Amino acid sequence: MSGALVPRRPWRDRRIVQGVSGGIAAYKSVQLARDLTRLGAQVDVVLTRGATRFVTPLSFEALTGRKVLTELFSADGAAMHIRLGVEADAVCVAPATADLIARAAAGRADDLLTTTLLATRAPVVICPAMNDRMYAHPQTTRNLAYLQDELGYAVAGPATGPLAFGEGEGPGRMLEPPDIVEHVGRALEKDAFLAGRQVLITTGPTREPVDPVRFVGNRSSGRMGHALARAAWRRGARVTLVSGPTHLARPPGVQRTRVATAREMLDAVAEAIPRADVVIFAAAVADYRPARARSGKIKRARESASLSVELTANPDVALDTLPLRKPGARVVGFALETDDLLARARTKMERKAFDLIVANHARGPGGGPFGERNAVTLLAPDGPPEELPLMPKDEIAEAVLDRLDGAPARRFSQASS
Ligand code: CTP
Repeated sequence: MSGALVPRRPWRDRRIVQGVSGGIAAYKSVQLARDLTRLGAQVDVVLTRGATRFVTPLSFEALTGRKVLTELFSADGAAMHIRLGVEADAVCVAPATADLIARAAAGRADDLLTTTLLATRAPVVICPAMNDRMYAHPQTTRNLAYLQDELGYAVAGPATGPLAFGEGEGPGRMLEPPDIVEHVGRALEKDAFLAGRQVLITTGPTREPVDPVRFVGNRSSGRMGHALARAAWRRGARVTLVSGPTHLARPPGVQRTRVATAREMLDAVAEAIPRADVVIFAAAVADYRPARARSGKIKRARESASLSVELTANPDVALDTLPLRKPGARVVGFALETDDLLARARTKMERKAFDLIVANHARGPGGGPFGERNAVTLLAPDGPPEELPLMPKDEIAEAVLDRLDGAPARRFSQASS
Protein backbone atom coordinates (compact mmCIF):
# COMPACT_ATOMS: atom_id res chain seq x y z
CA MET A 1 0.00 0.00 0.00
CA SER A 2 1.03 3.60 -0.15
CA GLY A 3 -0.31 6.92 0.97
CA ALA A 4 -0.80 8.24 4.45
CA LEU A 5 -1.36 5.88 7.34
CA VAL A 6 -4.39 7.63 8.79
CA PRO A 7 -7.55 5.96 10.03
CA ARG A 8 -9.63 5.03 7.00
CA ARG A 9 -11.79 2.41 5.40
CA PRO A 10 -11.70 -0.56 5.64
CA TRP A 11 -9.44 -0.74 8.70
CA ARG A 12 -10.89 2.09 10.78
CA ASP A 13 -12.71 0.87 13.92
CA ARG A 14 -12.36 -2.78 12.96
CA ARG A 15 -11.13 -5.50 15.30
CA ILE A 16 -8.21 -7.52 14.07
CA VAL A 17 -6.54 -10.44 15.81
CA GLN A 18 -2.95 -10.57 14.67
CA GLY A 19 -1.39 -13.95 15.37
CA VAL A 20 2.40 -14.21 15.39
CA SER A 21 4.15 -17.57 15.31
CA GLY A 22 7.81 -18.35 15.90
CA GLY A 23 9.79 -17.47 12.80
CA ILE A 24 12.44 -14.89 12.14
CA ALA A 25 9.94 -12.84 10.12
CA ALA A 26 8.23 -12.09 13.46
CA TYR A 27 10.30 -8.90 13.61
CA LYS A 28 8.32 -7.57 10.62
CA SER A 29 5.02 -8.29 12.34
CA VAL A 30 5.83 -5.47 14.75
CA GLN A 31 5.55 -3.03 11.86
CA LEU A 32 2.37 -4.74 10.70
CA ALA A 33 0.75 -4.17 14.10
CA ARG A 34 1.83 -0.55 13.98
CA ASP A 35 0.50 0.04 10.46
CA LEU A 36 -2.86 -1.57 11.19
CA THR A 37 -3.17 0.48 14.36
CA ARG A 38 -2.37 3.71 12.52
CA LEU A 39 -5.04 2.87 9.98
CA GLY A 40 -7.53 2.92 12.83
CA ALA A 41 -7.88 -0.79 13.63
CA GLN A 42 -8.00 -2.22 17.12
CA VAL A 43 -5.29 -4.84 17.03
CA ASP A 44 -5.09 -7.70 19.52
CA VAL A 45 -1.78 -9.47 19.13
CA VAL A 46 -1.52 -13.14 20.08
CA LEU A 47 1.99 -14.59 20.29
CA THR A 48 2.74 -18.29 20.23
CA ARG A 49 5.36 -19.58 22.62
CA GLY A 50 7.84 -19.73 19.72
CA ALA A 51 7.13 -16.13 18.74
CA THR A 52 8.15 -14.89 22.19
CA ARG A 53 11.67 -16.16 21.43
CA PHE A 54 11.90 -13.62 18.60
CA VAL A 55 9.81 -10.63 19.74
CA THR A 56 8.55 -9.43 23.08
CA PRO A 57 4.98 -8.58 24.05
CA LEU A 58 6.22 -5.16 25.12
CA SER A 59 7.09 -4.13 21.54
CA PHE A 60 3.54 -4.80 20.40
CA GLU A 61 1.92 -3.30 23.48
CA ALA A 62 3.80 -0.06 22.98
CA LEU A 63 2.51 0.19 19.41
CA THR A 64 -1.05 -1.10 19.72
CA GLY A 65 -1.79 0.28 23.17
CA ARG A 66 -3.39 -3.07 23.96
CA LYS A 67 -2.38 -5.99 26.12
CA VAL A 68 -0.66 -8.76 24.18
CA LEU A 69 -1.89 -12.27 24.77
CA THR A 70 0.28 -15.34 24.97
CA GLU A 71 -1.28 -17.86 27.36
CA LEU A 72 -4.29 -20.08 26.83
CA PHE A 73 -4.51 -20.97 30.48
CA SER A 74 -4.26 -17.87 32.63
CA ALA A 75 -6.52 -16.13 35.10
CA ASP A 76 -7.66 -13.47 32.64
CA GLY A 77 -7.23 -15.75 29.64
CA ALA A 78 -10.16 -17.99 30.49
CA ALA A 79 -12.55 -17.91 27.56
CA MET A 80 -10.35 -15.21 26.02
CA HIS A 81 -9.90 -17.34 22.92
CA ILE A 82 -13.65 -17.49 22.43
CA ARG A 83 -14.11 -13.77 22.99
CA LEU A 84 -11.25 -12.82 20.66
CA GLY A 85 -12.48 -15.16 17.96
CA VAL A 86 -16.09 -14.07 18.17
CA GLU A 87 -15.39 -10.35 18.24
CA ALA A 88 -12.76 -10.29 15.49
CA ASP A 89 -13.61 -8.81 12.09
CA ALA A 90 -10.53 -10.54 10.67
CA VAL A 91 -7.70 -12.76 11.90
CA CYS A 92 -4.26 -12.47 10.33
CA VAL A 93 -1.41 -14.86 11.13
CA ALA A 94 1.91 -13.26 10.19
CA PRO A 95 4.29 -14.94 10.13
CA ALA A 96 2.66 -18.36 9.83
CA THR A 97 5.37 -21.00 10.25
CA ALA A 98 5.16 -24.52 8.79
CA ASP A 99 4.29 -25.77 12.26
CA LEU A 100 1.49 -23.25 12.79
CA ILE A 101 0.08 -24.05 9.35
CA ALA A 102 0.17 -27.79 10.14
CA ARG A 103 -1.54 -27.28 13.47
CA ALA A 104 -4.21 -25.06 11.94
CA ALA A 105 -4.86 -27.55 9.13
CA ALA A 106 -5.18 -30.38 11.66
CA GLY A 107 -7.67 -28.39 13.74
CA ARG A 108 -5.43 -28.42 16.80
CA ALA A 109 -6.23 -26.14 19.72
CA ASP A 110 -3.08 -26.42 21.78
CA ASP A 111 -2.37 -22.74 22.29
CA LEU A 112 -4.25 -19.43 22.32
CA LEU A 113 -3.71 -18.74 18.60
CA THR A 114 -4.92 -22.09 17.23
CA THR A 115 -7.82 -22.03 19.67
CA THR A 116 -8.79 -18.58 18.44
CA LEU A 117 -8.67 -19.86 14.86
CA LEU A 118 -11.19 -22.56 15.78
CA ALA A 119 -13.42 -20.14 17.65
CA THR A 120 -13.63 -17.48 14.97
CA ARG A 121 -15.91 -17.29 11.95
CA ALA A 122 -14.24 -14.14 10.69
CA PRO A 123 -12.11 -14.23 7.54
CA VAL A 124 -8.58 -15.50 8.14
CA VAL A 125 -5.41 -14.40 6.33
CA ILE A 126 -2.36 -16.68 6.58
CA CYS A 127 1.06 -15.25 5.69
CA PRO A 128 3.48 -18.17 5.35
CA ALA A 129 7.14 -17.64 6.22
CA MET A 130 9.67 -20.44 6.30
CA ASN A 131 12.71 -21.97 4.69
CA ASP A 132 12.16 -22.68 0.97
CA ARG A 133 12.64 -26.45 1.37
CA MET A 134 10.05 -26.57 4.13
CA TYR A 135 7.69 -24.51 1.99
CA ALA A 136 8.16 -26.82 -0.99
CA HIS A 137 7.51 -29.98 1.06
CA PRO A 138 4.29 -31.77 0.05
CA GLN A 139 3.10 -31.69 3.68
CA THR A 140 3.15 -27.91 3.69
CA THR A 141 1.65 -27.70 0.19
CA ARG A 142 -1.19 -29.97 1.25
CA ASN A 143 -1.81 -28.11 4.51
CA LEU A 144 -1.92 -24.74 2.78
CA ALA A 145 -4.22 -26.08 0.06
CA TYR A 146 -6.54 -27.40 2.78
CA LEU A 147 -6.64 -24.06 4.58
CA GLN A 148 -7.33 -22.25 1.32
CA ASP A 149 -9.69 -24.58 -0.49
CA GLU A 150 -11.57 -26.24 2.36
CA LEU A 151 -11.60 -23.58 5.05
CA GLY A 152 -11.65 -20.52 2.78
CA TYR A 153 -8.62 -18.89 4.37
CA ALA A 154 -6.75 -16.35 2.26
CA VAL A 155 -3.10 -17.35 1.83
CA ALA A 156 -1.00 -14.24 1.28
CA GLY A 157 2.47 -14.98 -0.07
CA PRO A 158 5.09 -16.13 0.47
CA ALA A 159 7.37 -13.91 -1.55
CA THR A 160 10.57 -15.05 -3.21
CA GLY A 161 13.82 -13.53 -2.03
CA PRO A 162 16.59 -13.75 0.55
CA LEU A 163 15.65 -15.99 3.49
CA ALA A 164 17.25 -16.04 6.94
CA PHE A 165 21.03 -15.72 7.22
CA GLY A 166 22.76 -18.72 5.65
CA GLU A 167 19.60 -20.00 3.92
CA GLY A 168 20.03 -18.45 0.48
CA GLU A 169 17.10 -17.32 -1.67
CA GLY A 170 13.79 -18.88 -2.60
CA PRO A 171 10.05 -18.81 -2.05
CA GLY A 172 9.40 -18.62 1.68
CA ARG A 173 9.82 -14.99 2.66
CA MET A 174 6.91 -13.39 4.44
CA LEU A 175 5.22 -10.62 2.43
CA GLU A 176 6.18 -7.11 3.47
CA PRO A 177 3.82 -5.47 5.99
CA PRO A 178 2.31 -2.94 3.51
CA ASP A 179 1.22 -5.83 1.28
CA ILE A 180 -0.19 -7.77 4.23
CA VAL A 181 -2.16 -4.67 5.22
CA GLU A 182 -3.85 -4.82 1.79
CA HIS A 183 -4.68 -8.52 2.19
CA VAL A 184 -6.20 -7.80 5.61
CA GLY A 185 -8.14 -4.95 3.96
CA ARG A 186 -9.54 -7.35 1.39
CA ALA A 187 -10.55 -9.75 4.17
CA LEU A 188 -12.35 -6.91 5.94
CA GLU A 189 -14.23 -6.09 2.72
CA LYS A 190 -15.35 -9.68 2.27
CA ASP A 191 -18.93 -8.94 1.24
CA ALA A 192 -18.11 -5.94 -0.90
CA PHE A 193 -20.19 -5.23 -3.98
CA LEU A 194 -17.28 -5.67 -6.39
CA ALA A 195 -16.65 -9.26 -5.30
CA GLY A 196 -15.85 -11.34 -8.36
CA ARG A 197 -16.32 -8.41 -10.77
CA GLN A 198 -13.80 -7.53 -13.43
CA VAL A 199 -12.47 -3.98 -13.11
CA LEU A 200 -10.30 -2.27 -15.73
CA ILE A 201 -8.42 0.92 -14.85
CA THR A 202 -6.13 3.12 -16.94
CA THR A 203 -3.57 5.28 -15.17
CA GLY A 204 -0.44 7.37 -15.48
CA PRO A 205 0.88 9.53 -18.28
CA THR A 206 1.77 8.34 -21.74
CA ARG A 207 5.15 8.99 -23.30
CA GLU A 208 5.23 9.77 -26.98
CA PRO A 209 8.74 9.43 -28.41
CA VAL A 210 10.39 12.35 -30.14
CA ASP A 211 13.64 10.48 -30.68
CA PRO A 212 15.33 7.54 -28.87
CA VAL A 213 16.02 9.62 -25.73
CA ARG A 214 13.21 12.20 -25.59
CA PHE A 215 9.46 12.10 -25.29
CA VAL A 216 6.36 14.26 -25.04
CA GLY A 217 4.59 13.52 -21.76
CA ASN A 218 2.85 15.11 -18.81
CA ARG A 219 3.05 15.40 -15.04
CA SER A 220 0.65 12.57 -14.16
CA SER A 221 2.08 10.31 -11.41
CA GLY A 222 -0.31 7.36 -11.72
CA ARG A 223 -1.16 7.64 -8.00
CA MET A 224 -4.90 8.07 -8.51
CA GLY A 225 -5.24 4.98 -10.71
CA HIS A 226 -3.05 2.89 -8.41
CA ALA A 227 -5.17 3.97 -5.42
CA LEU A 228 -8.32 2.98 -7.34
CA ALA A 229 -6.78 -0.38 -8.24
CA ARG A 230 -5.91 -1.09 -4.59
CA ALA A 231 -9.36 -0.08 -3.40
CA ALA A 232 -11.15 -2.15 -6.08
CA TRP A 233 -9.03 -5.22 -5.29
CA ARG A 234 -9.74 -4.85 -1.58
CA ARG A 235 -13.44 -4.79 -2.46
CA GLY A 236 -13.11 -8.19 -4.05
CA ALA A 237 -12.63 -7.29 -7.73
CA ARG A 238 -10.31 -8.85 -10.24
CA VAL A 239 -8.38 -5.81 -11.35
CA THR A 240 -6.48 -5.09 -14.55
CA LEU A 241 -4.45 -1.88 -14.38
CA VAL A 242 -3.17 -0.51 -17.67
CA SER A 243 -0.44 1.84 -16.57
CA GLY A 244 1.71 4.38 -18.33
CA PRO A 245 5.27 4.87 -17.01
CA THR A 246 5.38 5.39 -13.23
CA HIS A 247 7.75 4.46 -10.43
CA LEU A 248 4.90 3.09 -8.30
CA ALA A 249 4.90 -0.52 -7.09
CA ARG A 250 2.33 -2.91 -8.49
CA PRO A 251 -0.51 -3.14 -5.97
CA PRO A 252 -0.92 -6.62 -4.48
CA GLY A 253 -3.35 -8.87 -6.31
CA VAL A 254 -3.59 -6.50 -9.28
CA GLN A 255 -2.66 -7.53 -12.79
CA ARG A 256 -0.70 -4.62 -14.24
CA THR A 257 0.02 -4.15 -17.93
CA ARG A 258 2.69 -1.54 -18.55
CA VAL A 259 2.46 0.63 -21.64
CA ALA A 260 4.29 3.70 -22.85
CA THR A 261 2.32 5.35 -25.64
CA ALA A 262 -1.36 6.17 -26.17
CA ARG A 263 -1.51 3.64 -28.97
CA GLU A 264 -0.15 0.90 -26.70
CA MET A 265 -2.70 1.92 -24.06
CA LEU A 266 -5.47 1.70 -26.65
CA ASP A 267 -4.41 -1.84 -27.61
CA ALA A 268 -4.26 -3.01 -23.99
CA VAL A 269 -7.68 -1.50 -23.18
CA ALA A 270 -9.28 -2.85 -26.36
CA GLU A 271 -8.12 -6.33 -25.36
CA ALA A 272 -9.49 -6.16 -21.80
CA ILE A 273 -12.60 -3.98 -22.01
CA PRO A 274 -15.05 -6.54 -23.42
CA ARG A 275 -14.81 -8.47 -20.11
CA ALA A 276 -14.90 -5.49 -17.74
CA ASP A 277 -17.91 -4.84 -15.48
CA VAL A 278 -16.41 -1.55 -14.35
CA VAL A 279 -14.01 0.64 -16.33
CA ILE A 280 -12.21 3.65 -14.89
CA PHE A 281 -10.30 5.94 -17.27
CA ALA A 282 -7.89 7.68 -14.90
CA ALA A 283 -4.95 8.01 -17.31
CA ALA A 284 -3.68 11.35 -18.54
CA VAL A 285 -3.32 10.32 -22.16
CA ALA A 286 -1.30 12.62 -24.40
CA ASP A 287 -3.73 13.95 -26.99
CA TYR A 288 -0.91 14.46 -29.51
CA ARG A 289 2.33 12.69 -30.40
CA PRO A 290 5.22 13.63 -32.66
CA ALA A 291 4.12 12.82 -36.18
CA ARG A 292 7.42 11.12 -36.87
CA ALA A 293 9.68 9.81 -34.09
CA ARG A 294 13.30 10.28 -35.26
CA SER A 295 15.38 7.12 -35.32
CA GLY A 296 18.56 8.99 -34.33
CA LYS A 297 19.04 11.49 -31.51
CA ILE A 298 18.19 15.02 -32.59
CA LYS A 299 21.39 17.09 -32.49
CA ARG A 300 21.56 20.71 -31.51
CA ALA A 301 21.74 22.84 -34.65
CA ARG A 302 24.17 25.66 -33.79
CA GLU A 303 22.93 27.93 -36.50
CA SER A 304 19.21 27.63 -35.65
CA ALA A 305 17.51 29.12 -32.56
CA SER A 306 14.39 26.98 -32.82
CA LEU A 307 13.26 23.47 -33.55
CA SER A 308 9.77 22.43 -34.64
CA VAL A 309 8.28 19.05 -33.91
CA GLU A 310 5.07 18.36 -35.77
CA LEU A 311 2.39 16.70 -33.66
CA THR A 312 -0.43 14.47 -34.79
CA ALA A 313 -3.58 13.41 -32.92
CA ASN A 314 -3.46 10.33 -30.72
CA PRO A 315 -6.37 7.93 -30.35
CA ASP A 316 -8.88 8.73 -27.62
CA VAL A 317 -8.76 5.55 -25.56
CA ALA A 318 -12.12 6.05 -23.84
CA LEU A 319 -13.95 7.06 -27.02
CA ASP A 320 -12.40 4.58 -29.43
CA THR A 321 -13.14 1.60 -27.19
CA LEU A 322 -16.74 2.66 -26.56
CA PRO A 323 -18.22 0.08 -28.98
CA LEU A 324 -16.23 -2.69 -27.25
CA ARG A 325 -17.71 -2.08 -23.78
CA LYS A 326 -19.58 -4.95 -22.16
CA PRO A 327 -23.32 -4.20 -22.13
CA GLY A 328 -24.27 -2.73 -18.75
CA ALA A 329 -20.68 -1.98 -17.77
CA ARG A 330 -20.31 1.03 -15.52
CA VAL A 331 -17.75 3.52 -16.77
CA VAL A 332 -16.00 6.31 -14.90
CA GLY A 333 -13.95 9.08 -16.50
CA PHE A 334 -11.79 11.91 -15.25
CA ALA A 335 -11.76 15.50 -16.43
CA LEU A 336 -8.80 17.76 -15.85
CA GLU A 337 -9.49 21.41 -16.61
CA THR A 338 -8.14 24.85 -15.98
CA ASP A 339 -11.41 26.70 -16.72
CA ASP A 340 -15.13 26.02 -16.70
CA LEU A 341 -14.59 22.80 -14.78
CA LEU A 342 -18.10 21.47 -14.31
CA ALA A 343 -19.54 22.47 -17.69
CA ARG A 344 -16.65 20.92 -19.56
CA ALA A 345 -16.67 17.82 -17.37
CA ARG A 346 -20.37 17.35 -18.11
CA THR A 347 -19.76 17.65 -21.85
CA LYS A 348 -16.99 15.02 -21.65
CA MET A 349 -19.20 12.72 -19.62
CA GLU A 350 -21.88 12.86 -22.30
CA ARG A 351 -19.55 12.60 -25.27
CA LYS A 352 -17.68 9.61 -23.83
CA ALA A 353 -20.77 7.97 -22.25
CA PHE A 354 -19.44 7.93 -18.68
CA ASP A 355 -21.75 7.03 -15.78
CA LEU A 356 -19.66 9.19 -13.47
CA ILE A 357 -16.95 11.76 -14.03
CA VAL A 358 -14.35 12.90 -11.53
CA ALA A 359 -13.69 16.56 -12.25
CA ASN A 360 -10.53 18.19 -10.98
CA HIS A 361 -8.83 21.49 -11.42
CA ALA A 362 -5.25 21.56 -12.72
CA ARG A 363 -4.47 24.40 -10.29
CA GLY A 364 -6.66 23.15 -7.46
CA PRO A 365 -5.76 23.20 -3.76
CA GLY A 366 -2.89 20.99 -2.65
CA GLY A 367 -1.13 21.31 -6.01
CA GLY A 368 -4.02 19.98 -8.13
CA PRO A 369 -3.93 16.39 -9.33
CA PHE A 370 -0.15 16.00 -9.24
CA GLY A 371 0.40 15.43 -5.52
CA GLU A 372 -0.64 12.92 -2.87
CA ARG A 373 -3.94 14.69 -2.27
CA ASN A 374 -6.53 16.32 -4.45
CA ALA A 375 -9.90 18.08 -4.32
CA VAL A 376 -12.39 16.67 -6.81
CA THR A 377 -16.05 16.96 -7.71
CA LEU A 378 -18.09 13.89 -8.64
CA LEU A 379 -20.61 14.42 -11.37
CA ALA A 380 -23.22 11.94 -12.62
CA PRO A 381 -25.73 12.35 -15.46
CA ASP A 382 -28.44 12.98 -12.88
CA GLY A 383 -28.25 14.64 -9.50
CA PRO A 384 -26.23 17.57 -8.24
CA PRO A 385 -22.42 17.63 -8.29
CA GLU A 386 -20.79 16.25 -5.13
CA GLU A 387 -17.84 18.41 -4.13
CA LEU A 388 -15.30 16.54 -2.00
CA PRO A 389 -12.82 18.34 0.24
CA LEU A 390 -9.05 18.11 -0.24
CA MET A 391 -8.24 14.50 0.71
CA PRO A 392 -5.68 11.75 0.13
CA LYS A 393 -6.10 9.90 -3.18
CA ASP A 394 -6.79 6.64 -1.33
CA GLU A 395 -9.88 8.30 0.12
CA ILE A 396 -10.94 9.72 -3.23
CA ALA A 397 -10.73 6.18 -4.59
CA GLU A 398 -13.04 4.96 -1.83
CA ALA A 399 -15.49 7.79 -2.54
CA VAL A 400 -15.57 6.95 -6.26
CA LEU A 401 -16.25 3.27 -5.54
CA ASP A 402 -18.88 4.20 -2.95
CA ARG A 403 -20.69 6.19 -5.65
CA LEU A 404 -20.68 3.15 -7.91
CA ASP A 405 -21.88 1.00 -5.02
CA GLY A 406 -24.77 3.34 -4.36
CA ALA A 407 -25.63 3.78 -8.04
CA PRO A 408 -28.87 2.39 -9.40
CA ALA A 409 -28.63 -1.40 -9.25
CA ARG A 410 -30.43 -1.87 -12.55
CA ARG A 411 -27.52 -1.19 -14.83
CA PHE A 412 -24.93 -2.75 -12.57
CA SER A 413 -26.76 -6.02 -12.04
CA GLN A 414 -26.87 -6.48 -15.80
CA ALA A 415 -23.10 -6.15 -15.77
CA SER A 416 -22.63 -9.49 -14.07
CA SER A 417 -24.82 -11.43 -16.50
N1 CTP B 1 -8.92 10.04 -22.33
C1 CTP B 1 -8.56 8.94 -23.07
N2 CTP B 1 -7.77 9.08 -24.18
C2 CTP B 1 -7.35 10.29 -24.59
C3 CTP B 1 -7.70 11.43 -23.83
C4 CTP B 1 -8.49 11.26 -22.72
O1 CTP B 1 -8.95 7.83 -22.70
N3 CTP B 1 -6.58 10.40 -25.67
C5 CTP B 1 -9.79 9.88 -21.17
C6 CTP B 1 -9.11 10.27 -19.86
O2 CTP B 1 -8.56 9.15 -19.23
C7 CTP B 1 -10.26 10.86 -19.06
C8 CTP B 1 -11.18 11.44 -20.09
O3 CTP B 1 -10.86 10.77 -21.32
O4 CTP B 1 -11.01 9.88 -18.37
C9 CTP B 1 -11.04 12.92 -20.28
O5 CTP B 1 -9.69 13.27 -20.40
P1 CTP B 1 -9.18 14.78 -20.56
O6 CTP B 1 -7.75 14.76 -20.93
O7 CTP B 1 -9.64 15.62 -19.41
O8 CTP B 1 -10.05 15.29 -21.77
P2 CTP B 1 -9.91 15.20 -23.32
O9 CTP B 1 -11.04 14.36 -23.80
O10 CTP B 1 -8.54 14.84 -23.74
O11 CTP B 1 -10.25 16.71 -23.74
P3 CTP B 1 -9.34 18.01 -23.62
O12 CTP B 1 -7.92 17.58 -23.76
O13 CTP B 1 -9.84 18.82 -24.75
O14 CTP B 1 -9.63 18.64 -22.30
